[in-house]
This record gives sequence, structure tokens and C-alpha cells, in this order.
Amino acid sequence: MTSDKGAPWRAAGLKWDPLKSLIVPRPIGWITTLSSGDGGANTAPYSFFNAVSSTPPMVMFACNGVHADGGLKESVINALETGEFVVNVASAGVIDAVAKTGYAVDRGVDEGSHPLLANSAMLASTVVGPPRLALAKAHLECTTVESIELPHDNGEARNVVVFGRVVAYHLCTSILTDAGDSVDVLRLNPLSRLGGSEYGTLGAREAVISHKYGEAELMEQAPELFTQLAARRQRARARRK
Ligand SMILES: Cc1cc2nc3c(=O)[nH]c(=O)nc-3n(C[C@H](O)[C@H](O)[C@H](O)COP(=O)(O)O)c2cc1C
Repeated sequence: MTSDKGAPWRAAGLKWDPLKSLIVPRPIGWITTLSSGDGGANTAPYSFFNAVSSTPPMVMFACNGVHADGGLKESVINALETGEFVVNVASAGVIDAVAKTGYAVDRGVDEGSHPLLANSAMLASTVVGPPRLALAKAHLECTTVESIELPHDNGEARNVVVFGRVVAYHLCTSILTDAGDSVDVLRLNPLSRLGGSEYGTLGAREAVISHKYGEAELMEQAPELFTQLAARRQRARARRK
């Protein structure tokens, strides 16, 4: 059942919207920005965060609702006004710091470096102004590409999605493969947000499969489909040349 405009979960017999329990795990984009006013740093976690493109590499984070004092949340204001933000990837073991950077403290307080909140050392970025959280093992320096405002059902509240282009990566050697040329996701062991106040970490990695997974069976069982696939791949390769 999916009716009941505005609260479709009621028609499904649920008390709460299951969206955040169904779209899981959500990676946590720990966003650092700088204020265009006093230049102060700001840190906040966003689980409505993801990659949106690989060429060029682009990401998004979505601000829902309002800052506790009203108006847009600081991460959004700063990313739009300065044109820059950093995504700090949270790994297992930093739940406490992640939760505390989500506190609704006064504007101007940096939840990332505050000794009573995340208490993280801050590292200088190389291309953009906002600093990086030393607590994170991977950092994506981003320039803001654009933002989109979506409807919100509650009065003054806002839904704003910010898109950014990755202009620099910083990866701790501890999350790289033994060869040192790519990320080992189990070593990164990203922290993710689940439903309610639950968090998750990476449990297991499925056997590594190639893009050609299942093609041998396809060739045998549906040769005409396989021929189409191979021809399309060849045309795509020719277009790229
Ligand atoms: C794990 C976690 C994930 C969160 N994800 C989001 C999110 O995706 N969007 C959002 O608007 N707020 C999210 N929040 C709440 C914000 O982090 C919180 O409102 C914060 O105070 C915003 O800070 P800012 O005003 O400095 O940007 C999340 C909080 C936590 C702890």
C-alpha cells in the first residue's frame, strides 16, 4: 500500500516513516566548511549524502529542516557562500564523535575540534579552505557545483541539496591495499547510518566479481542476447576512441 499523500507509511500500517530504515546503510558525509563571515570552521554529519557522478567525481549532501536557531544549517550556508566543503569519511570507532558533531550547538562553534564534542585535531586541506578532521581516514576536498531546493512539508523548514566536485583526495595509508594503489574497503570500514539511532559498520565483502559476471552462462543459454551485449560494448568502445 502506498497511498495517503504526505504520510504514505500510515496506509502501510506503520507508525513512523520507514524511509531511513529501508534506505540503508547510508554513508556518513562528515562535512567541514568555513564561515564566509568570521572564517570559523564548522563540522556536521550528513547521512543523506552520496556520490552522484564519477566523471568528474561529484558528491551531494542534503540538508533537511532548519538550524536550531532557524534558517539554513551552517554546512549549507557555508558551502554555498564560500563554494567549498570537505567530506570526511567516518570509519568504525568514531560513533561518539559523529553523534556529538550533530548536536545543535550555537552557530560559530566548531563541533569537530571542540574539546567537549568530537575533539578532533584539524588538518589543513591542500586545494580548498575548509580543514580536514584528523579523526577521519579519508577526505574528499570539494568545490560546490550547485544546489537545489526541494519542497518541504513543514512551514519554514527547508530541503536543500548541495552538489560538489571532488578536487583532491587524501587517504590514510592504513586504508589502502597492500599494493598501496587502491582503497581496501574493509580497512576503511566505513561507519554508516541505519534506521532510528542505529549505526552500522561493514560486515562482510561478497566475493569480488568482474563486470563480466554471468556472461559465460548468458553466452550458453541466450546467445542472441550475448551477441547484442558484445556488439553494444564494441560500439561504446569505438565511440570512446
Ligand atoms: C549520523 C547523523 C547523520 C545526520 N544526517 C543528516 C542529514 O543527512 N541531513 C540533515 O539535514 N541533518 C542530518 N543530521 C543532523 C545534522 O548533523 C545536525 O542538524 C547538525 O546540527 C547540522 O549542523 P550544521 O548546522 O553545522 O550544518 C545528522 C546527524 C547525525 C548524528
